[in-house]
Amino acid sequence: MPFVPMKQILDEARKAGYGVGAYNVNNMEQIQALMQGASELNAPIILQASRGALQYSNMVYLKHLMQAAAEDNPDLPIAIHLDHGPDLETCKEAIALGFTSVMIDGSIDYSQTDANGAHPARSFEDNIRVTREVVEYAHPLGVSVEGELGTLGGIEDDTKAASIHLTDPDEVEEFVAQTGVDALAIAIGTSHGAYKFKEEPKLALELIPKIRDKAGDATLVMHGSSSVPQDLVAIINQYGGNLQKSMGVPIEQIQEAIKLGVQKINIDTDGRLAFTGNNRKYLAENPEVFDQRKYLSEGRRGIYEVMKGKMLALGTDGHADDYEPLTLEDAKAWYK
Ligand code: G3H
Ligand code: 13P
Ligand code: ZN
Repeated sequence: MPFVPMKQILDEARKAGYGVGAYNVNNMEQIQALMQGASELNAPIILQASRGALQYSNMVYLKHLMQAAAEDNPDLPIAIHLDHGPDLETCKEAIALGFTSVMIDGSIDYSQTDANGAHPARSFEDNIRVTREVVEYAHPLGVSVEGELGTLGGIEDDTKAASIHLTDPDEVEEFVAQTGVDALAIAIGTSHGAYKFKEEPKLALELIPKIRDKAGDATLVMHGSSSVPQDLVAIINQYGGNLQKSMGVPIEQIQEAIKLGVQKINIDTDGRLAFTGNNRKYLAENPEVFDQRKYLSEGRRGIYEVMKGKMLALGTDGHADDYEPLTLEDAKAWYK
């Protein structure tokens, strides 16, 4: 099956009221682990790659690994999505590679860097302008577009924003109408990475129904949705790691967000923790091993276990054959 437009996966999830994980991938083991989970659960899935992932894998390798996932799982709806596209050029590159969806992170100006090395927020008008440019390029090709209103806290270099603003529900209607985005990333207090909160977080979940009310046909996206499981942090530290104490987003708050109207749930960090924890443990316990297939198999198993659990918790399981998958060619008709 060819990759499906992300809009279809999200629209179907919204109709039925479940969440779909959008999982960041960089290499073969991550993709295999996720696909094993999705396949066993008959779940649609969004595989996403950041600009850093494309650089790491020299783009063409990741593209072919994703294609292998589709070839190996012809019955599953799979969308491939550019995560945090910084500009139109990067979105064009992803589309040329065959991505069925791109995010333009128009709320941050990646071309500017302040004295602290952070990127400043764009004005509302500027965000609309850059987002609309991407929509105008992508939609005639059937490619879905995710925009962002508000800024997330990020600790990864490429997503480091100078300041964090929650999404203002009063801006949503105009943003969606002026840009035509298919999906809207909202800022409700989450942040990227392993160091999110010092204690049990209180997300601004009350914003979701207000935003949903004004978002029209756009589906809502929650970034920074890793839960930073303490058992994974403990394993990493037990086997030579040095991660500080921190909390992620409890799965119950994500489930509540889905009930309130969020469909796309972005998860990266928890996969990294599972991979690193399992690799460290295996290598520490088997110091004679130097065959990378042995320890990478353990890392892959760690991702599979954690991510299969996410798919169940988000309610994605069992939905792969609820609908007839569409192609980018079909999607062009939506935007005429
Ligand atoms: O939202 C950002 C993701 O966690 C991607 O991180 O830029 O290190 O690949 P990355
Ligand atoms: P986490 O760092 O919480 O996994 O968030 C990932 C993300 O939002 C990718 O866009
Ligand atoms: Zn993100």
